[in-house]
Amino acid sequence: MGRPICDLREAAKARLPRLLFDYIDGGSYDEVTLQRNRDALRSIALRQRVMTDISSLRMDTTLFGQSLALPLALAPVGFAGMYARRGEVQAARAAKAAGVPFCLSTLSICGLEEVVRDSGAPVWFQLYMVRDRGFCQALLQRARAAASPVLLLTVDLPIAGARYRDLRSGMSGPAGWRGAAMRAWQGATHPAWLWNVQLNGRPHGFGNIPPEVIGEGGVGGFADWIKSNLDPTVTWKDIAWLRERWDGPIVIKGLLDRADAREALACGVDGIVVSNHGGRQLDGVPASASALPAIVEEVAGRVPVLADGGIRSGLDVLRMLALGADACLVGRAWAYALGAAGEAGVAEMLATLRSELEVAMSLTGCTDVREAGRHLLVD
Ligand code: FNR
Repeated sequence: MGRPICDLREAAKARLPRLLFDYIDGGSYDEVTLQRNRDALRSIALRQRVMTDISSLRMDTTLFGQSLALPLALAPVGFAGMYARRGEVQAARAAKAAGVPFCLSTLSICGLEEVVRDSGAPVWFQLYMVRDRGFCQALLQRARAAASPVLLLTVDLPIAGARYRDLRSGMSGPAGWRGAAMRAWQGATHPAWLWNVQLNGRPHGFGNIPPEVIGEGGVGGFADWIKSNLDPTVTWKDIAWLRERWDGPIVIKGLLDRADAREALACGVDGIVVSNHGGRQLDGVPASASALPAIVEEVAGRVPVLADGGIRSGLDVLRMLALGADACLVGRAWAYALGAAGEAGVAEMLATLRSELEVAMSLTGCTDVREAGRHLLVD
């Protein structure tokens, strides 16, 4: 069994420059929703059952026609190539070895083709709708050419939430020489990261965004790029635009409200991810675990419902399933693990989730994750 995720978080904190650790760890504004995600899951009481035959447990499931060894996938997480050398490739390899999907962010350091080539497996692809539809279309073509089985459309970031930790840490502020000095100092005082990533992990641009699109600023210019390129005019009608250009499953990520789930179903999406972007967007919105049951009720089994936000253990995975999710996405858990120990860290994190899920299933008498539901919870 691997280290618990809280220990991997501490290891990442020690190894990464503060600006990167805080970028992963932080949320928006007062980080209320970030905390809510954790609190809501921890407050859910699992129902202990005894004397059940637990000699054979099924943790595998099927999602969008794909077999998953565990009911989870690695969530799209931007910048992962800065947490470890060619980080997205390392994480995708660990996911492949554990039999779970890896979802590549639009804002990854390694490009889609590099990740698929060097991990040896297709990956889910996450898309942000930007103003330039030609750019979106080119990304969709690349995803199709790379045989991505699932497209995840993230819709809770038409504008970026303010992340004050990033302003203080050197990530997006302070401006000028002060910020530059902070970044240089943090790099110099984290020699393992400096050697592994800064010196030997190049190139550091965004692999899915050509330099002529993102401009001179490269990765440093990403905040400006987001601000000026995310498309504020996107509405439900754009799902039809996407559908004409993508014939695989379209999964919409970032729903918290049952009215939006109804709209998404009417647009013919193939799956829904209940998410508040890990508490990184609108602070004060409910925890994903709190929003999940109403959406599950609304969807009523018509498409798979996934959930993310605050999952830090296999127990949390079972809690989300008990609330009605078909599977989960894990975000920070793999980002911490990658920062802590690269591919081996992500493999360790997945082994931890697996063994924790096994214990949780055994002690609730749940022998098949596909049958997990409300009956696993104390009323
Ligand atoms: C994210 N998330 C995210 N989502 C997305 O659709 N595209 C992206 O590029 C990113 N980038 C990103 C970076 C970092 C550092 C984090 C922590 C998160 C959100 C992510 O997919 C997921 O919704 C949350 O991380 C889930 O919450 P937990 O598991 O981190 O608590």
